[in-house]
Amino acid sequence: MEEYQAMYKASLEDPEKFWGDMAREFYWKTPFEKVGPTYNFDRTKGDVSIRWFEGGATNLSYNCLDRNVEQGFGSKTAIYYECNDLDDGHAAYSYSDVLRMVCKLANALKAEGVQKGDRLSVYLPMIVELPASMLACARIGAVHSVVFGGFSAESLAGRLQDAQSSLVITADAVMRGAKPVQLKAITDKACEIAAKDGFNVQRVVCVARLKDTPRAGQAQHGWVSGRDVWYSDFVAAQAEECECEWMDSEAPLFMLYTSGSTGKPKGVLHTTGGYMLGAFATTKYTFDYHPEDVYFCTADCGWITGHSYVTYGPMLNTATQVLFEGVPTHPDVDRFWKVCEKYKVSIFYTAPTAIRALMKSGDAPVTRNDLSSLRLLGTVGEPINPEAWRWYYRVVGGGHCAIADTYWQTETGSHLITPLVGAMDCKPGSAVLPFFGGPGGGGTVYGDHKRFEETYFSQFNGCYFTGDGCKRDKDGFYWLTGRMDDVINVSGHRIGTAEVESALVAHAKVAEAAVVGFPHDIKGEGIWCYVTLNEGEAYEDSLKADLKKQVREVIGAFAMPDEIHWAPGLPKTRSGKIMRRVLRKLALPDYETQDLGDTSTLADPSVVDVLKSYHPRKK
Ligand code: PRX
Repeated sequence: MEEYQAMYKASLEDPEKFWGDMAREFYWKTPFEKVGPTYNFDRTKGDVSIRWFEGGATNLSYNCLDRNVEQGFGSKTAIYYECNDLDDGHAAYSYSDVLRMVCKLANALKAEGVQKGDRLSVYLPMIVELPASMLACARIGAVHSVVFGGFSAESLAGRLQDAQSSLVITADAVMRGAKPVQLKAITDKACEIAAKDGFNVQRVVCVARLKDTPRAGQAQHGWVSGRDVWYSDFVAAQAEECECEWMDSEAPLFMLYTSGSTGKPKGVLHTTGGYMLGAFATTKYTFDYHPEDVYFCTADCGWITGHSYVTYGPMLNTATQVLFEGVPTHPDVDRFWKVCEKYKVSIFYTAPTAIRALMKSGDAPVTRNDLSSLRLLGTVGEPINPEAWRWYYRVVGGGHCAIADTYWQTETGSHLITPLVGAMDCKPGSAVLPFFGGPGGGGTVYGDHKRFEETYFSQFNGCYFTGDGCKRDKDGFYWLTGRMDDVINVSGHRIGTAEVESALVAHAKVAEAAVVGFPHDIKGEGIWCYVTLNEGEAYEDSLKADLKKQVREVIGAFAMPDEIHWAPGLPKTRSGKIMRRVLRKLALPDYETQDLGDTSTLADPSVVDVLKSYHPRKK
């Protein structure tokens, strides 16, 4: 604990030395002149900005791959790839293997005309080509925009257009549990949608994931000649070496879309030097990483966790990790634990929602596997309830593993609040104490710096606002209490209520919608939708499935509403503002006895009774 306190202090008081020394463990083509940070968080004093390692030039792909190979770790396993289906097997890729793969792809992208600063989209499942595509982009200075494979064609189209990304890397299809996900077909549709809006995708590179396997018949997609190319053909003629583009510390590295309380998802843009150090340092210290560890993060690279704690952080630490294509319940509810046993995983990192879901199956699926290799457990994405924390600790960790509850966001790029396990006692449900004060943190919203300033720097002058509520106890420990804005956290996925509302309103029969979160046993929060239909439409239960499908198609399956609550009228103030407080209370299990507070300012107080009469959980 004393060491933590000393390091924490040093990180804040002498960043030049603290972060400078750490940064110099990496290769810089041009050494930085100043560690920084040079920043302004006060909008009244000019543009909000933050700069780290000014004057330096480096490359993430070089530091994740070449550097490891040069230091003699070329034959060390970088990635154990575990397929969705047990009969589909597994593979191991050394650091040299990944480097070759990345170079070939980087060369192919260059041959295609991709240049430094261009944006490329990646819509892939969890196969080795996913981190390889990210690293290939980083190698040539292209900005990757990874879109999670669960997003719909419409969502993908929006992201392609916003990023003006004319090249997409995808796969024919992939099995997720027992079901295929038609990535190529969805990409085709996204390209059509974008084309209608005047944006043309020029090139679709398609990894043959199911093609030539016994499950080939599961992949169903078209082929646009001249636009589409198989990945293997795309890289076939390319050399296995590729010189890096040396990137300024503040040059963009990637963008990743995330939801906010208003408007469309925004592309959070991360830059090179600060992100690199943030991902490196947190992986090293939060997970107390040692060279002999086998690390397994279950997050998909489509989310920030997969960026920082699958692709970049572990590779910057020369780690050996498991990349898992499948789902925790296929073929059985013990799949995670089977994977842990098989690869002798020592560090395991997952989301509370997965823990809660697996907890439901009892202890046996866990304890029938040998988990004695586990040393450290992590959680991320949402508050973890003490009950799930204890089960994770006792059953998965066998009572001998520390738990790191890591609090952070897409915008921060790496952990903000987390215990340094071993150094500190943990309390179930608390993310404990701040990580060292340091680099990382997205520098802007792609194409909209004003929105960046307004979203994050307008609530408290001079401070970044995360949007989360938090308590601090007498020991200084932090307890995250959830979002304070109209963002809900469903299974660790951030969803803006406004996004779901606009998906609903896009339905021909819907006049208005108001969406709130409600407590959900497994997902943490579920999606509760109040829907007003157009004049003359009948409030029939059969329409509810249609509306759920609508949201699924517009956003993606993970955003599917849990409840549709007919609302012939919504509780509005006289000025027309929806009283969400009332809607949140009406979505609670004990809504009948909830005190709705002062409803006298409602334009029509009788709507509350009407809503109660339409309550989907009415007995
Ligand atoms: O509300 C917080 C919650 O997830 C939000 C960030 O979501 P996203 O950008 O998608 O990144 C997820 C992976 C970091 C935060 O604003 N959150 C994340 N981690 C925790 C958490 N809430 C409580 N405890 C956590 N450990």
